[in-house]
Amino acid sequence: MVAIEGSGKVSRRDFLKLLAAAGTVLTFVPFVDWGKFLPNPAGKVASRAKVELPDGTQANVKTFQVNSSQAVIYPKTNDPTLNKESFRIWQFIRLPEELGGTKNDVSAFRMYSMVCLHLWCLWKYWPDPGRKRGECPCHGSMYDPLTGKAFAGPASLQAPPSNVLARLDLETDSDGNIWIKPPNFSPDANGVVGFGRFLKE
Ligand code: FES
Repeated sequence: MVAIEGSGKVSRRDFLKLLAAAGTVLTFVPFVDWGKFLPNPAGKVASRAKVELPDGTQANVKTFQVNSSQAVIYPKTNDPTLNKESFRIWQFIRLPEELGGTKNDVSAFRMYSMVCLHLWCLWKYWPDPGRKRGECPCHGSMYDPLTGKAFAGPASLQAPPSNVLARLDLETDSDGNIWIKPPNFSPDANGVVGFGRFLKE
């Protein structure tokens, strides 16, 4: 746009400066650690927490059905409004039989952030024969229940770590109750909700 200097409009010279500045910003975009700016469940969690199912009971290896899932809030607060934040919603899955779901230990379970890595809709696990995968209703991203890695749709086209869901580590006690271990929300460990995790093969 050509305009008269001092008129309050942008002159040709200012416009060119603006273009140069925008170019500089775009050059550095890939080096910004965006994960640090994303909202993860707040506060450090020092001790393990129950995998609390929607009915208020604690998930147990002996009773949670193979090839099924539930949405679990973590970390849970006393504030019902905070508990509805997407970034606190996790999909707790007992894997299907063919992926080891009949084992009576913690290896049969997974817990992934339900925030899709594409544009943050909430995906869920579908246990139906022929599916047995996570699916996002917005643009069709699909997630492998074994690893949390996107294998179809736009999330699968994103570069690591933004193609693998954040995950919580689990453990069981002698009664079979399932617990969430204190997480480390970094891409190299449990991942960053809405941003992703480096998959260690
Ligand atoms: Fe999930 Fe786009 S937000 S596929």
